[in-house]
Amino acid sequence: MAIRRMREGDIDDVMAVEQGSFSSPWTRDMYLREIRKAEGCYLVARRGEELAGYCGALLILDEAHVMTLAVRGDLRRRGIGARLMLELIERMEGMGARFLTLEVRRSNRAAIELYSSFGFQIMGERMNYYLDNMENAYIMWTDDITAPPYRERMRALRERYAYAV
Ligand SMILES: CC(C)(COP(=O)(O)OP(=O)(O)OC[C@H]1O[C@@H](n2cnc3c(N)ncnc32)[C@H](O)[C@@H]1OP(=O)(O)O)[C@@H](O)C(=O)NCCC(=O)NCCS
Repeated sequence: MAIRRMREGDIDDVMAVEQGSFSSPWTRDMYLREIRKAEGCYLVARRGEELAGYCGALLILDEAHVMTLAVRGDLRRRGIGARLMLELIERMEGMGARFLTLEVRRSNRAAIELYSSFGFQIMGERMNYYLDNMENAYIMWTDDITAPPYRERMRALRERYAYAV
């Protein structure tokens, strides 16, 4: 599996996964805008010709805001989401991030479990954040990703998900 920057030519495949993954999917234009942002990092995971998943984040000061993460439905629970997050976090740190944050639907157990294993903790809740069903969002944050405990977490995660192909 190869993970690299998302390009305009990836977006048709991204849209197919996006529409199967989210109740309020982003549009093609939104992705086009996002991948052009200098403070952004959007990645795709490809197995040969196939798009397996993608993720992205924006850097605001020293905070990386994770904007999206999805894995194709039939390829889930194989470590691909974790591999994407590992790569994203390394790249965001390289761009100057010290903390990671995101919003996630309260009911999204799979994502919350994944983010928890990456050291994200629930630090707040935004009421009625998702307008399609008025669901609340949890706001999650990590500790300092440049500090030794987080580096050790990343080392262990890299080892754990090295198998993911
Ligand atoms: C969330 C999502 C990206 C996870 O991708 P994935 O490739 O299946 O995740 P991984 O196989 O890398 O799982 C990593 C860890 O996350 C947790 N996890 C993933 N899916 C889970 C599930 N269905 N239930 C419980 N825990 C889950 C586990 O801790 C897992 O580790 P393990 O398999 O070693 O136990 C995927 O379910 C998805 O695309 N969902 C729809 C889109 C979405 O909700 N995105 C998040 C928006 S905030």
